[in-house]
Amino acid sequence: MRPMKLLAGMVLAAALLAGVGLATRAGPASANNGPHGNYTLTTAACAGCHRAHTAVGTDLLKETNVYALCTTCHAGSVSTDVVHGFQTGSGLPLNGGGFEQANNKPVTSSHIVAGMPVSGTPASGAGTAWGSQNGDNIPVGDLGVGVQGTLECTSCHNPHGSTNYRILKDASNGYPYGPANASKHRWVPDNPDLLDWMNSQVVATVDDNFDYSFNPASDCVGTKCKMKFTSGISVVLVGGTPTTQIDTTKGMNAFCATCHKSYLTLSGSGAAPSTDATHYVYPGTQDALDGKGNVARYRHAVERTYGGSPQQPLRFAAEGTTPGTAGTVKYDAFSCLTCHYAHGSSSAATGFAQGVAPANDSALLFYDNRGVCISCHQTDKMAPTPTPAATSTPVPSPTP
Ligand code: HEC
Ligand code: HEC
Ligand code: HEC
Ligand code: HEC
Ligand code: HEC
Ligand code: HEC
Repeated sequence: MRPMKLLAGMVLAAALLAGVGLATRAGPASANNGPHGNYTLTTAACAGCHRAHTAVGTDLLKETNVYALCTTCHAGSVSTDVVHGFQTGSGLPLNGGGFEQANNKPVTSSHIVAGMPVSGTPASGAGTAWGSQNGDNIPVGDLGVGVQGTLECTSCHNPHGSTNYRILKDASNGYPYGPANASKHRWVPDNPDLLDWMNSQVVATVDDNFDYSFNPASDCVGTKCKMKFTSGISVVLVGGTPTTQIDTTKGMNAFCATCHKSYLTLSGSGAAPSTDATHYVYPGTQDALDGKGNVARYRHAVERTYGGSPQQPLRFAAEGTTPGTAGTVKYDAFSCLTCHYAHGSSSAATGFAQGVAPANDSALLFYDNRGVCISCHQTDKMAPTPTPAATSTPVPSPTP
């Protein structure tokens, strides 16, 4: 009996392992889900987006602009509805927020991409990448505001797949420049104030498995919530001791800095001017359109970890999930996306948080106003518990 039971147990274990093998990926992988890459020689994918003779958009696209093209699928017909910011079916909020709605409300700020409706009219997508520094392509008088260009879904994603988490752009982005011309693939080709994309810049964590939604029930331990990508920070074994290492060219912080270059900061930046090369990866000045001119700024540090427990749920990038690292997965690395959504937010911008230059809106923030700040700081000065409100009798709703 005993050996038989053991055998049955082993078969069951093997079956479970096989199931797990199917459901998860072997290691930190890059995401090329949907019709976006890994093409075979008999692929049908091209027809999801291109027409050979009857296209109505440039690059032989079957829609007149990239937003219209992407949203033929990403507005309800596939699982990721980036227009309304939720996962079709489950209704859970997407990691990136949304372009027209987020958390079931109209957005109050977003990356405005060409073709998306803003007050009913398709946007041109023309915008300034704040913090991209000296703006050498900007006419005299605008120095320091940032590089101007046209933003599209394909400014950040490569529809044909990439080496990166969520098909984010990488060093090689196809015709017409080819893999050898990284600087021509920048958001504005060859612009000296922008950075080159890198291969495998943002790597999916081992537990990503195309997990597109933010679910506090499964993504948080207490108020520490995990994001499904690595930051520029990893934990490696140096002589057997787990040691934090920073690679400022890798991770989500570096991805955002490709356009918002000067916001990439090291620990201690809050006490040092942005011209200081010890605490700033790309030192320089900025005109934030706040009347202070093109001067040195002081910025919040991003390339570091956070050891505390936030007062309300906040998302952190994973540590130690890259190959050859200490192997433990911790979720306490800062990312731009600890405070921001990548696509758009419906957070409020009221009171002192209203009209803050240069963006003058809710700045893609994860919480209303400065809810992100109070999550980590000034935690000892909370208001006393209010006295319970007087109980009131519920008013019955009128019958129609
Ligand atoms: C999900 C939509 C989508 C799919 C699927 C797709 N493309 Fe594209 N393709 C685009 C978009 C959008 C552009 C414009 C590029 C840009 O805006 O950066 C483009 C541009 C191109 C270009 C010109 C520029 C470049 O990057 O090389 C070629 C060639 C091309 N596609 C070929 C193909 C082929 C062949 C297939 C199938 C193997 C395919 N595409 C599948 C969306 C798609
Ligand atoms: C023909 C349908 C179709 C079109 C058009 C399309 N997608 Fe997708 N895309 C999908 C599907 C299916 C997935 C898999 C996830 C899902 O089901 O929502 C996906 C996944 C993605 C992902 C996540 C990739 C990953 O592996 O994590 C991104 C990013 C994305 N699409 C961007 C775009 C962009 C940008 C465009 C426009 C250039 C576009 N898509 C156009 C069908 C489409
Ligand atoms: C400024 C860069 C940027 C632009 C522009 C952008 N994306 Fe994204 N997108 C991202 C990043 C970064 C993520 C990963 C977000 C995360 O994990 O928190 C993402 C995630 C996604 C996902 C996966 C679902 C999710 O929310 O995580 C899809 C699908 C997608 N983008 C499609 C699009 C489409 C379609 C457009 C244009 C309408 C677009 N993106 C424009 C940067 C961008
Ligand atoms: C600690 C929270 C936090 C982190 C981390 C953070 N931001 Fe911000 N960001 C904000 C807040 C708050 C605003 C609104 C304006 C303000 O108060 O400075 C903002 C505004 C912005 C703006 C609009 C222009 C401006 O300065 O007002 C851009 C662009 C931006 N952030 C990019 C980034 C990038 C890129 C990263 C990562 C390198 C990043 N942020 C990391 C909190 C953060
Ligand atoms: C391809 C270039 C590019 C990349 C990459 C990029 N941005 Fe932006 N970003 C822009 C441009 C252009 C604007 C201003 C126009 C707009 O709002 O669409 C902007 C605006 C912003 C704003 C202010 C939005 C507002 O109006 O309130 C924030 C915050 C921001 N970006 C954060 C991020 C974060 C976080 C990332 C990384 C996930 C990122 N950006 C990646 C180009 C980029
Ligand atoms: C994830 C937690 C977290 C969030 C969110 C956060 N901070 Fe911080 N903050 C830190 C940490 C950690 C440091 C120390 C940074 C360093 O290493 O230089 C810091 C540094 C600072 C400093 C500089 C202190 C000094 O000595 O120079 C100020 C001021 C500050 N934060 C204000 C803010 C504001 C305002 C916000 C909202 C926009 C904010 N923080 C959001 C964790 C956070």
